[in-house]
Amino acid sequence: MQNQKIVIEGGVPLRGDIKIQGAKNSSLPIIAASLLCEGETVIKNCPRISDTYASCRILSHLGCRCNLSGNVLTVSADKKSSCSVSDELMSEMRSSIIYMGALLGSSGECCMTFPGGCELGPRPIDMHIDAMKKLGARVKDEYGIIECSAPHGLKGTKIILSYPSVGTTENIMLAAVKAEGETVISNAAMEPEITDLAEFLNKCGGRIKGAGTGKIVIDGVKKLYGCTYTVMPDRIAAATYISAAAATNGEINILGIDGLLCDSFISVFEQMGCYIYIYDDRVYVNAERPLRSVGKIITMPHPGFPTDAQAVIMAALCKARGSSIFVENIFESRYKQVDALVKMGANIKVSGKTAVVTGVKRLYGSKVSATDLRGGASMIVAGLGADGKTEISDIYHIDRGYENIENIISSLGGKIKRI
Ligand code: EPU
Repeated sequence: MQNQKIVIEGGVPLRGDIKIQGAKNSSLPIIAASLLCEGETVIKNCPRISDTYASCRILSHLGCRCNLSGNVLTVSADKKSSCSVSDELMSEMRSSIIYMGALLGSSGECCMTFPGGCELGPRPIDMHIDAMKKLGARVKDEYGIIECSAPHGLKGTKIILSYPSVGTTENIMLAAVKAEGETVISNAAMEPEITDLAEFLNKCGGRIKGAGTGKIVIDGVKKLYGCTYTVMPDRIAAATYISAAAATNGEINILGIDGLLCDSFISVFEQMGCYIYIYDDRVYVNAERPLRSVGKIITMPHPGFPTDAQAVIMAALCKARGSSIFVENIFESRYKQVDALVKMGANIKVSGKTAVVTGVKRLYGSKVSATDLRGGASMIVAGLGADGKTEISDIYHIDRGYENIENIISSLGGKIKRI
């Protein structure tokens, strides 16, 4: 797996219909949430990506039964036998931190190490720990091992987040859904994936109101029961395929997604000159006109422009007429794709949080390495729009979040293969 590569012969306009995958950033917390449930949880539209497999390894390690068949993941936590996640498992996936709230909420204790790596710059977990303490957990952090316990149970409280962190909001929901009394999260993250997690928990018997707004109120319940739930579509995968259509001046239909979910980035493609029609179950994209540059793109918490779409849209803008400016506000090192794009002929200047992309006539296929998940996807987008052959190594980063990306692009006529 480690030495697989994606090879692309660029220059073919993408055309046709694709069905969008389930959302990674929604399925991962929902999988963790299954720990809180009695009986069987059936998670449909679960993406077959390596982060899902890593989540299954964590659940199995904790003693849960876990079976992924197609896109249906069935979990039973009834025989859960451990509350510790090993360092090896924690380092496989950054979102493993979500098991802190899920384990505290289900067992009143957990032991774990810090989640892996610093792919996008420092990713502290101070807000997660402070929130667990507010809910009544004792947290000991020594030599990189974090031990949390709530011998007297977790108690609902008011938590005001200093920043609307997605992971912290989810961890609080997971810990508080079965806590005693009411928890109120102010300045909560408002991402649609938060709403999806709340809908899952409510379907299991939870009482969560306000998800999708800045104030979430959780009325603790004694028990949750497994249910059958369908994960929402992946809006960032949609942004990636729209970028690929734009980079190749193609025309595609993305099926299985409510276009409104793409609200936070659709206007950028429209400014680029793409015709986009949104329907309640699909998005139509016609990018046959030459692309033009856009005004400033500033990444922000939802409903602002999503940081996860920055790299793929940057790749599409490399050949747009004029200059586009990006300001990356969420993560410190989220321009890691830039060196590869420049190697392919792009004109991009980075200074701190700002990147200026000045459109060039052509990109040239090159040998590049995926630096992170979305950075790797941006190299696919650029490669599809480039002249000649692009070879991308370290594609395990891409496999963390995209299901079958090369088959999907092939089905649209793109010349892409995995070797
Ligand atoms: N932060 C802290 N302290 C904390 C937590 C966060 O300083 O305790 C900072 C982070 O360092 C970062 C900012 O707050 O600068 C935002 O972090 P947030 O907690 O909102 O992000 P996350 O939960 O770690 C999720 C997604 C990311 C996505 C961000 C922002 C999942 C599994 N991951 O990460 O997705 O970029 O929200 O929307 O949901 C991706 O899919 O490629 C990806 C990285």
